[in-house]
Amino acid sequence: MKKITIAIDGHSSCGKSTMAKDLAREIGYIYIDSGAMYRAVTYYCLQHDFFTENSVNMEELQAAMKDIHINFRLNGEGRPETYLGDTCIEKEIRGMAVSSRVSLIATIGFVREAMVALQQEMGKEKGIVMDGRDIGTTVFPDAELKIFVTASAEVRAQRRYDELKAKGEEASYESILENVKERDRIDSGRTISPLRKADDAILLDNSGMTIPEQKAWLMERFNEVVNK
Ligand code: DC
Repeated sequence: MKKITIAIDGHSSCGKSTMAKDLAREIGYIYIDSGAMYRAVTYYCLQHDFFTENSVNMEELQAAMKDIHINFRLNGEGRPETYLGDTCIEKEIRGMAVSSRVSLIATIGFVREAMVALQQEMGKEKGIVMDGRDIGTTVFPDAELKIFVTASAEVRAQRRYDELKAKGEEASYESILENVKERDRIDSGRTISPLRKADDAILLDNSGMTIPEQKAWLMERFNEVVNK
């Protein structure tokens, strides 16, 4: 069967990763969480004290880019985890310290350029499902299947709250909702590769859908494209 490229974009915390990961596992494709890459850069900045009160030290970050080696490895259960060099940072990049700063990092041109180049390299053989904000518009504009996922901010905040709680992390629903709205504003308003639906992407509002329903919906879209 021919291998295709699948781009899944959309708002933060709308379940893109869950859908994308499930589909990739089911069809035997590589799954790449491009947001994890921006989170990894943010984590590196925190580790190296690059953040100032409202911004980040651009000179230091630019000089450090060559030392930021992001890669993904499968864990014992076959799930991909994010690494900086040889260190697994999967848990660290999901906490609020990274979540509240990552949109800023994702607005920086030289960071985006480096991440897009790495993403294109990872996808050059096709057979990949990548999720993010600019995958169907910038990273893989020729992807055979493009999905744009959205859900209301309240539904998304509740999902992230439940996710953090389940992991035993402290969280307040109000601050998560604020964070979700703020990230929407920054992601959609930035100058370089703002979050927007590609003209040829299929829109999915999953506010009222269960995970199995989304999974079935996505599998149908995949089958339509590969059987065409
Ligand atoms: O999907 P996520 O919440 O893990 O993404 C983290 C941040 O990175 C979010 O603010 C949007 C940004 N991002 C981006 O600008 N481009 C991507 N391809 C993926 C994520």
